[in-house]
Amino acid sequence: MFAVTGITGQVGGVAARTLLDTGLSVRAVMRDAAKGAAWKERGCEIALADMNDAAALTAAFSGVDGIFLMIPPIFDPTPGFPEARAIIAAVTTAIGVAKPSKVVCLSTIGAQATQPNLLNQLGLLEQALNTLQSPVCFLRAAWFIENAVWDVAPARATGVVPSFLQPLDKPVPMVATADIGHLAAALLQETWTGRRIIELEGPRRITPNQIAATFAEILGRPVRMEAVPRGAWEGLFASQDMKNPTSRARMLDGFNEGWIEFENSDQSSRKGHTELKTVLKQLVARI
Ligand SMILES: NC(=O)c1ccc[n+]([C@@H]2O[C@H](COP(=O)([O-])OP(=O)(O)OC[C@H]3O[C@@H](n4cnc5c(N)ncnc54)[C@H](OP(=O)(O)O)[C@@H]3O)[C@@H](O)[C@H]2O)c1
Repeated sequence: MFAVTGITGQVGGVAARTLLDTGLSVRAVMRDAAKGAAWKERGCEIALADMNDAAALTAAFSGVDGIFLMIPPIFDPTPGFPEARAIIAAVTTAIGVAKPSKVVCLSTIGAQATQPNLLNQLGLLEQALNTLQSPVCFLRAAWFIENAVWDVAPARATGVVPSFLQPLDKPVPMVATADIGHLAAALLQETWTGRRIIELEGPRRITPNQIAATFAEILGRPVRMEAVPRGAWEGLFASQDMKNPTSRARMLDGFNEGWIEFENSDQSSRKGHTELKTVLKQLVARI
């Protein structure tokens, strides 16, 4: 039995479906009972737990062979990351008590970066889990191709998509969430001791211009990227109701300036199989 957090989300959903398809049993960890029926139908045990609730998480993580752990994305954190720190404290307490024989933890490219930015939240998660006795594998994923979901509406409506990734011809490490979920399920079936870091990107790096060209092909209309000037970012994010836009802006700087990268070289990162066009077609069909 494997406990899967974030099962109603992108990566956790794929990881759980892959385990189930392999004939393995899954305990679906979720906060919203209303979302449980579909997973119950697929044969999952349901464990209700908010990621802030150490006692509920301890019950959810007890008696399993392994855990797929993710923390929810927090795009607009309060300075000092108190929201992520509360979740990290709860999951660390729960894992420390439940003592699973392995944890596969979804982390990120650039989790090791010391420059203040949004991804420090996953660096804090890694540091906390490093203090535990259970073997932990950090699955550091590249930029999700699915982040292009925000590009579908402008691509369709005007053919001009604002890009914060710049310059527009710079290849960025990206990966499909399907590839991450599949690898997470495979890693849960491996045995190891201590701490592992696995870095994952797609079959090739992707430029913003390639995203635009692929949207153009799929939508049958001209689409181009337009770089949003760096000086406008924080004001723009604030106008979109972000209270603390600097963390996100600095993360984007990190990709653009190259200090958000895999800790090991791109030679040693694992490569997924899912192509950009496959993901963009799915996003266009969905929206
Ligand atoms: N986007 C990227 O480019 C990127 C790259 C590398 C790593 N990451 C990391 O990947 C993770 C996001 O993965 P994803 O895209 O698969 O997630 P997602 O699709 O956004 O789903 C988030 C999941 O977390 C659950 N959740 C949210 N708040 C919760 C709470 N308080 N208690 C319990 N469950 C809660 C959601 O449940 P509900 O259905 O109830 O909302 C959902 O299952 C984040 O940690 C992010 O930092 C992202």
